[in-house]
This record gives sequence, C-alpha cells and structure tokens, in this order.
Amino acid sequence: MHILKPKVTIVGCGAVGVRFAYALVVSGLVRQLVIIDKDKKRLEGEVMDLSHCQAFTSPLDLIAGDYPDTVGSDIVVITAGVKQKPNQTRLELAQTNVEIFKEIIPNLIKYTPTSIFLVVTNPLDVLSYVAYKLSGKPAKEIIGSGTVLDSARFRFLLANHCKIDARNVHAYILGEHGDSEVPIWSKAMIGGIAIREHCPVCKNKNTCRYTELEKIFIEVRDSAYKIIERKNETSYGIGLALLRIVTAIIKDENAVLPVSVLVDGYLEIKDVYMSLPAIVNKYGVKDVLYPKLDKEEEEKLKKSALVIKEVIDRLKI
Ligand code: 2OP
Repeated sequence: MHILKPKVTIVGCGAVGVRFAYALVVSGLVRQLVIIDKDKKRLEGEVMDLSHCQAFTSPLDLIAGDYPDTVGSDIVVITAGVKQKPNQTRLELAQTNVEIFKEIIPNLIKYTPTSIFLVVTNPLDVLSYVAYKLSGKPAKEIIGSGTVLDSARFRFLLANHCKIDARNVHAYILGEHGDSEVPIWSKAMIGGIAIREHCPVCKNKNTCRYTELEKIFIEVRDSAYKIIERKNETSYGIGLALLRIVTAIIKDENAVLPVSVLVDGYLEIKDVYMSLPAIVNKYGVKDVLYPKLDKEEEEKLKKSALVIKEVIDRLKI
C-alpha cells in the first residue's frame, strides 16, 4: 500500500518563509517539511518553535536542513532573497536576487530535480523566468506565486466596499506582481453578477461612485508599500496565498489560480513570466486560460509584460 507522505521544502526562513511554514504546519497538509537557510541559528530556532505546534496539529517530520535533505520534495518553495526596503520597488531587487538564485537553483537541481519549484522571491515574475532558464526544467514545473496575493487583496477590498463575503467576489489582478499589474474589471463578479451590472442595482449606490472602484485598485497595487512602510515586510497574506497554491498541487485540484507562468504568444507577448489564470494540479501548471479582455485591459497587460521583459533583458543570468 502506498502511503502518501507529501514533502515540501522551503528555501529561506525569513518573514515569508516562516509564515508559510506556520500555515503549512497548522493545515496538516504535508508529512515532511524541510526548511533551509544560510542563517543556521535562526533556522534552528524557527524549526524548534514550529515543532512545538505538533501537539496541536498532526505528526510532521520537520527538519532544519540543507540541500541534501531536500531529496524527493514534491514542491520546493523559494522565498530566499533580499526583500524590499520602504519605497523600494520589487524590480530594483532583480540582479541582487538573481545572484542568490544562481546558487539556489543548481543545488535544487542536484538534489531534487523533479520537484515543482514555486518562486516567491521578488521580483517574482523575473525570478520565475530566471529559475526556468537556470533549471532547464519544463515551464509547467516552474510556477511564480504571481498575483494570487494581489487578487486576494482585490477581492477583499471589493467585498469590503460592496458589503459582500470576499469568498463570493471573483476578480483578477493579472500581469506583473508589481506596479504595472492590471485589474480585470471586465471579468469581476459580485456573487455571480458582473460588477458593471451589479453597481447600478447595488443598495449602497448612494455611497459609491465608479471612481471608488478605481481607488480600490490603487490600494491593491500599493498595498505592499503601505505595509512595508509600517512593519518592514509583508508576510501573512503571502503565507496563505502560498498555502492555497501548494494545496492545489498536493491535492491535485485543477484549481484556477492567477499564478506567474511562461507566456509565449498570447496578445503577441513572448518569452516572459507573468500572471494569467492557470489550472494548477499535481503536475504544476496543467493549462493556462487566456481570457478575452477588453481593449484597455489588453493594452495594459502588454505593457506589463514589456516592463518585466525589459528587466529580464538587462539581467546577467
Ligand atoms: C507583497 O506584495 C512584498 O510582494 C510582496 O506583499
């Protein structure tokens, strides 16, 4: 009898890595969890602390490890790298974090070549592309966390505004996980009704003018800057976004998630990683859905792809 013992490796035990690790421990989703980090002292402390959750959760082989311990991982989640300082853009981190990836990716390929790699380190679209190039793996096995977090922020803020449960608001942010990201208003749904049809009949209409919705998008796009300005990092939202993606893979869900994928041909966009709705399952990206957008959204998405591509083209990979 083949007992399923899902194994996940997290590279990097900074704020994002440990919040995701905690979410994973609480979820009981995996049976083996390896966390690796250059800062061995901090790593041991985090793993000791997390281990003490097990009396409240479920059995878990939790290791403060190194690359040789990653053998046989189903998924490797890469959070290691330099994080944004206040007012710094994600794209400004590109070359610094590429240098870090030049050490991480070859080590992962050496010890756990068949894992799905989930890239979180910013600028994540650029680094997902770099991981794809450095690893030589099929694109479907290199996924960026993409705009899963941005779309969650969008859904929360729309729900809050429309006084609806966020789980009944479906709306995408696509393109770059960054300043050029695109709100897909043409596909935004409130409880199964297109938002453009919902607004005119909404009971709150006396408090809402359409410009309010544009302000909501700006708040989504700039969330990270505001949070980093106040607490020097973001961690909880991304931690659960990662749990959502990893659950879709481990449970083979065929879930549609706006993750960062290799795009080569859609809207004449070529050879770049950015977020589109993708079907995620145990093989990684099973398929990408290419939504029919309105003209303005198409133009913005093309611009977003260009922003990412320009950074990729300047890199020394
Ligand atoms: C975020 O959007 C910093 O990319 C991270 O929270």
